[in-house]
Amino acid sequence: MQAVVHRRGWLVPVILVLGALGLGASYGVAARSNPHIATTPTSFVQVSSAIAPMSLAAFPPELDLAKVQGADACGECHTREMEAWKRSTHFATWTTMHRKPRAREIASALEIKGGIKRNDLCVNCHYTARVVDEKPKPVSGVSCESCHGAAADWINVHNDYGANKTKETETPEHRAMRLKACDASGMLRPANVYLVARNCYSCHSVPNEKLVNVGGHPAGSDFELVSWSQGEVRHNYFQNPDQGNREASVERKRVLYVVGALTDLEYALRGMSKITERGAYRDAMIKRKNRAVKRIDEILSRVSLPEIQCLMSSLERDEKGRVKINQALLNELPDQLAALSEQFVNTHDGSNLGPRPPLDALIPGPEKYHGTAQP
Ligand code: HEC
Ligand code: HEC
Ligand code: HEC
Ligand code: HEC
Repeated sequence: MQAVVHRRGWLVPVILVLGALGLGASYGVAARSNPHIATTPTSFVQVSSAIAPMSLAAFPPELDLAKVQGADACGECHTREMEAWKRSTHFATWTTMHRKPRAREIASALEIKGGIKRNDLCVNCHYTARVVDEKPKPVSGVSCESCHGAAADWINVHNDYGANKTKETETPEHRAMRLKACDASGMLRPANVYLVARNCYSCHSVPNEKLVNVGGHPAGSDFELVSWSQGEVRHNYFQNPDQGNREASVERKRVLYVVGALTDLEYALRGMSKITERGAYRDAMIKRKNRAVKRIDEILSRVSLPEIQCLMSSLERDEKGRVKINQALLNELPDQLAALSEQFVNTHDGSNLGPRPPLDALIPGPEKYHGTAQP
């Protein structure tokens, strides 16, 4: 039996008991012991050599708390991003969550003693922790490094343009080297939409059966990447000459939408592989799976994406078009979807996905965005 902590290394692994379905080697364990996706060849997915294997090896992202610097270390330079973050639910959860009656109900159903902020499980998804006086300590809500990676090894690299150089005069070789060094030291750069998506879903799919079934915690909403990333979460200043907080471009939104749908299905299946009993968790994961399949079907009816089409049409369906899931699929399909998402982001910048056939009509507009973006 294999006990696995969902995201962070130091947590006491009491909650997830894998193995009840003989699935001990599912999820993170398999992903980490498999640094090269190409070593898990599949019948449908041709993995191109352009795919960086690192990103898969590093997931699910475990924050090395000894390397977390804390949001203040970023705010020194990233003042606008900091302001945007401070208006978000991710920031507010630090002061609001543990006071909610529902939080107390969840904690008491799970027999959590000693307070929510001291509980590894809750800290895992609601807070960012770091090592203070040799002890892990939550220091804020979901903050910069929960999404961009623990920064000790890249904070002084990611903005280093080379001796006597600026952003404008940095050589292309140096830039390529710098970005590669950032990736290698665990920075999750938003250029890779799949890394972004995976990170969001690793919390937002709430992949913890006991938390949901016993604790009564929400089982995760219909998280769609465009609508959830372009509202209050948005901080997109630095590419923009006028320093405004722009929405992602039309092209980037297409990529976010497609990768979001694929990742939703990937995480639904990863979540399903941990089902041990009937209940709210099971229902929610199956619903997530069906919804994601529908979204992918809709995408495929509008744009030609042969690899994804090939995978989807190989799956057996019931009379309502729902994909039938069996053990073998749960073992294989998530990694296949992961490889397809990586391949997709490496081969699409969104410009070849529209405007016709009309993928754009599927993409949620501002009225669907979650929360209000900082100007
Ligand atoms: C000393 C100033 C400074 C500090 C401190 C700093 N950054 Fe940056 N950051 C920069 C600069 C400059 C860039 C633009 C780099 C470029 O031109 O590629 C940047 C870029 C970024 C990017 C975009 C990278 C990309 O390739 O898209 C992210 C994400 C980021 N920083 C996150 C952080 C986080 C998180 C922290 C805190 C742990 C942090 N930064 C601390 C100066 C800083
Ligand atoms: C796997 C990640 C994860 C873990 C672990 C987790 N949460 Fe959450 N929690 C979330 C997410 C994501 C939401 C937002 C749900 C949504 O809107 O989809 C949330 C929402 C909540 C809410 C708000 C519900 C509401 O109705 O306003 C409370 C309260 C809460 N969590 C308490 C807890 C407590 C207490 C723990 C520890 C026992 C915990 N959570 C552990 C991810 C997590
Ligand atoms: C470390 C876990 C974690 C990660 C990573 C994460 N979130 Fe969240 N997010 C949460 C939790 C927990 C809440 C709910 C907090 C509460 O209600 O107290 C939340 C709330 C939100 C909300 C506000 C709730 C709503 O319904 O509007 C949005 C929007 C959101 N997240 C978007 C994102 C996006 C987009 C990403 C990826 C770029 C992301 N989140 C990554 C944990 C996470
Ligand atoms: C919920 C996850 C999440 C959190 C928390 C978060 N980021 Fe980001 N960050 C993203 C995503 C996603 C993008 C890509 C935005 C896009 O392209 O639409 C991004 C982009 C950036 C960029 C490049 C764009 C720009 O604004 O210049 C920087 C720099 C950055 N983040 C720094 C930070 C800092 C500093 C913090 C904390 C104060 C932070 N981020 C918190 C997810 C997050």
